[in-house]
Amino acid sequence: MAKLRYGIIGTGGAGQGKHLASYAQNPDVELIAVCDIIAAKANQAADRFNVEAAYTDYKEMLREEKLDLVSVATPNHVHAPATIAALQADCHVHCEKPASLTPALVRSMIAARDKSGKKLMIGLNNRFTNWAQFSKAFVEAGSLGEIYHAKCGWKRRRGIPGKGGWFTTKAQSGGGPLIDLGVHFIDVSNYIMGFPKPVTASGQTYSKFADGQAFNPKASGYTGTYDVEDLAVGFVRYENGCTLDLEFSWASNIESEYSYVELYGTKAGLKIERGQVSIFQDFNGTSLDSKAKLKPEGPWGMAECLHYTECIRKNQEPIARPEECVLIMEIINALYKSAEKNAEVKIKL
Ligand SMILES: NC(=O)c1ccc[n+]([C@@H]2O[C@H](COP(=O)([O-])OP(=O)(O)OC[C@H]3O[C@@H](n4cnc5c(N)ncnc54)[C@H](O)[C@@H]3O)[C@@H](O)[C@H]2O)c1
Repeated sequence: MAKLRYGIIGTGGAGQGKHLASYAQNPDVELIAVCDIIAAKANQAADRFNVEAAYTDYKEMLREEKLDLVSVATPNHVHAPATIAALQADCHVHCEKPASLTPALVRSMIAARDKSGKKLMIGLNNRFTNWAQFSKAFVEAGSLGEIYHAKCGWKRRRGIPGKGGWFTTKAQSGGGPLIDLGVHFIDVSNYIMGFPKPVTASGQTYSKFADGQAFNPKASGYTGTYDVEDLAVGFVRYENGCTLDLEFSWASNIESEYSYVELYGTKAGLKIERGQVSIFQDFNGTSLDSKAKLKPEGPWGMAECLHYTECIRKNQEPIARPEECVLIMEIINALYKSAEKNAEVKIKL
């Protein structure tokens, strides 16, 4: 197969740190063009990765460069329009998480993919970790028995991204830590459990650190918008009787940053804690705990980008499909609605 002509839309943190860094080392890819709405950022990325063409308008890049593969690593509100434009320009698209702001927008991306005949993968990099792959295989082997409850979360003590910028502006991000961090761990919980169908959600959100002074008494504050939550908690019921308890925060007065998934099974329990997997079971009345000796994780996004080009080469479906993101976005949407209404809401798929 000839090398895939590659371009990227959005050359910020994820664009450079994950996509360009990974695709620059991918043997199936030739870096052709970068695009960022801020010319200085596009030029800096082009220099850093030795890419000839730099654009500030993605439509112009798509028109001029005849690309085969495009990454979308912009703020969340640009994901759907940029992905659809790239699919219409006959490109395979690797779009960052969250797929978009609403389930309806993700469905419009799926419709554009189906019309184009190209592949669309979402950047759910946690699925590609050794801890997620091990846990999924362990669950699929029946080793936990029936999973009847799960818990997941990612809490930061002080970690609001880009305060006053697009992350904290609902119209651009879709929400705070629930959509930003929750999308990863709600997804990975669903993925490991085999995508049970969610039926109701109950959520609450809090915004206690929008005021720069409350966040840090010595802070000089910030300018810009802060209209999203900094903590979200919730509870999801699935059709098979299983439940999921969740919590995501960018800022809380807790000991330190912490991420986890816990699965409660009838035969055994499984806990993923900061990338370590532990199994808890019982043998003849004696508790038996074990830890998986996982291989060290590779660089951020490397396994995901290699998987994607392999899927393109072999004409296979990628494992992080937008259809599964509709499910995640329906859950997140229902949690935000529930927080607004102060009541449990139904999820209609
Ligand atoms: N999978 C992960 O681990 C991970 C980690 C961080 C961020 N992300 C996701 O990646 C995306 C980008 O996040 P980030 O942290 O890199 O943000 P960022 O602000 O660092 O970068 C976004 C870039 O997009 C550019 N941009 C904005 N509008 C544009 C447009 N219309 N056309 C071209 N460029 C445009 C901005 O100028 C900026 O350089 C987000 O969707 C975020 O959720 C994923």
